[in-house]
Amino acid sequence: MKNILVTGGLGFIGSHTTVALAEQGFIPIVVDNLSNSELFIKDRIEQILNQAITFYQADCNDYAAMEKIFKEHTIEGVIHFAAYKAVGESVAEPLKYYENNLFSLINLLKIMQQFSVQKLVFSSSCTVYGQTEKLPVDESNAILPAFSPYGNTKQIGEEILQDVVKSQVDLQVISLRYFNPIGAHPSALIGELPRGVPNNLVPYITQTAIGKRPFLNVFGKDYPTPDGTCIRDFIHVCDLAEAHVKALQFLQNQKGSFIDFINVGTGKGNSVLEVIQTFEQVSGKALPYQFAPRRSGDVTAIYADARKAEKILGWKAQRSLADALADAWRWEQAIQNLEPMRF
Ligand code: UFG
Repeated sequence: MKNILVTGGLGFIGSHTTVALAEQGFIPIVVDNLSNSELFIKDRIEQILNQAITFYQADCNDYAAMEKIFKEHTIEGVIHFAAYKAVGESVAEPLKYYENNLFSLINLLKIMQQFSVQKLVFSSSCTVYGQTEKLPVDESNAILPAFSPYGNTKQIGEEILQDVVKSQVDLQVISLRYFNPIGAHPSALIGELPRGVPNNLVPYITQTAIGKRPFLNVFGKDYPTPDGTCIRDFIHVCDLAEAHVKALQFLQNQKGSFIDFINVGTGKGNSVLEVIQTFEQVSGKALPYQFAPRRSGDVTAIYADARKAEKILGWKAQRSLADALADAWRWEQAIQNLEPMRF
């Protein structure tokens, strides 16, 4: 297996995975509609790899455009990142989320069938577990009703995949349930590029530290956790990227109809205040923050039981929270002069 189609391959997780794939001898064929990514990331990936990559600006919802790519290359596996992912926006615009995230998956599955492509790694999320009582959460945990249309698209996506696998189609799937990806490539050439005001904690922290935002709002201080702030499992994006490569390598040895669901986290929970403290240590900067009301839809605490990934994929997170925050901070400083390259 060589040629791997990476949808959303210029996005945050997609770009790091494209690098990891090429480093492991795969040939990534990147497709991205640039709806939440930037073309210069392709050049940056090439700079890191010191080799050219194949890129198509195309939308996974566009059957004809995708079919053309499958005709041009013998695709042997697919990693499907391309999707909308802003939880709050999905509450405001649910149809946009259902249409894009589900239709693109259905389209892709149809094209994969048409070209007899059998290996798929799907981007899922720990949001499928909702606020589970049992922590750390393992994959046998019940799937609770989703908190947002975004989360529901991941649940429905997993159901669609299960049904297709059941339908006697030769399709082998791994659905990776990501916890909270943070950090950036240590080269500081690629990283997270939120448009407008960041929704997520770590880009908000780095933008505050660099002076783009006056202070960080810490949403909620009276959660039933040791320091009153929410707990998440923050995983370095390069570790997450490597999990995709391991998943593909695992799928190489699978035949017939196969699907499995695997958590990708560190196995360790950190509170929002712990993240701030660790950031201050690695950056040497005091971070201005204030407490604000709870953000609606936030679960109190979630972190992974990551043993299945180790057992099945031979994968385990290697990088620490401090590593991830140091890399995120290096990236934030590196992109200060980037604005002219964007949009
Ligand atoms: N937070 C703040 N201030 C901010 C931003 C976030 O205090 O400015 C807090 C949040 O309230 C939460 C924690 O930091 O307690 C983490 O928030 P993020 O927005 O970074 O991440 P989430 O855990 O909310 O969301 C992530 C992914 C989603 C996924 C979800 C599943 O971004 O795609 O995990 O739990 F659905």
